[in-house]
Amino acid sequence: TRVAGIAGNPVIHSLSPLIHNAWIEAAGLDAVYVPFAPQADDFVRFAEGLRGGSVRGLNITMPFKEAALSVANQASQRATLAGAANLIVFNADGTIVADNVDGLGLLEAFAAQAPGVDVTSGPVVVIGAGGAARGAAAAFAQAGCPEVRVVNRTLARAEMIAGALGEQARAFALSDCEKAFDGARAVVNATSAGLAGQEGLSVPLEATPVDCAVMDMVYKPLITPFLQRAQALRRPTVDGLEMLVRQAIPSFEALFGAPPPASVDARAICLEAI
Ligand code: ATR
Repeated sequence: TRVAGIAGNPVIHSLSPLIHNAWIEAAGLDAVYVPFAPQADDFVRFAEGLRGGSVRGLNITMPFKEAALSVANQASQRATLAGAANLIVFNADGTIVADNVDGLGLLEAFAAQAPGVDVTSGPVVVIGAGGAARGAAAAFAQAGCPEVRVVNRTLARAEMIAGALGEQARAFALSDCEKAFDGARAVVNATSAGLAGQEGLSVPLEATPVDCAVMDMVYKPLITPFLQRAQALRRPTVDGLEMLVRQAIPSFEALFGAPPPASVDARAICLEAI
């Protein structure tokens, strides 16, 4: 039986086991995808103990994405640029290889839900400056976006991300959001302000061009107050669940060595659970 899984804390609300185990079952694989919740300060010891491949690999979620990159012997360029890993593989020779397919999931989600918008053909805006924001900004930069605008309440944190990404990236304070929205092809909310129970992020979305695609990385609720405002303005919208499902595809391939079976509607399975 091949064992893989996800490490996070908390991990109980993760939809990844639901997605991967549905794929495993449909593909008839002798495998299982398990949630792991190491103590917050204990991830490195946990991962070190898995060297050798008794567990084939792990998706990584909060708060371990940076630590997962740090334990790896080898990392992909996209993981290095994102400063985080959402996927690590334990090789039989004892090495750990880190990757990050969140950015792929982000871009595929835009392609699926806003197919008319070429997000790499003009400026894009990422709001927030935590790990999720850095990953999104790195994905756009690597995809060749001519300008990545990082907007954050605390300007200094946006400047750190922009500095790490190089010349294509610029930092804006949240109070300058309107300027950042000028001419934007896409806007991504990567702040925690859309989470259930929190008041949504209040930004002047009406300052975006009418065909600007608007995404929220939060998917609980699926349509956050931020996405509701974008829909009211008739902007094309992209939800965080699509990103989650899209990053799961390359994750499954890396962990189980085969593409997920097309017969399973992973999004529908998740929608029933949220
Ligand atoms: P992550 O979980 O992606 O690593 P984080 O480090 O928890 O993110 O950061 C959360 C992000 O949401 C930050 O960019 C934060 O802004 P600050 O850097 O100024 O703290 C942003 N954020 C959270 N609540 C917000 C709110 N109500 N309005 C604006 N930004 C908010």
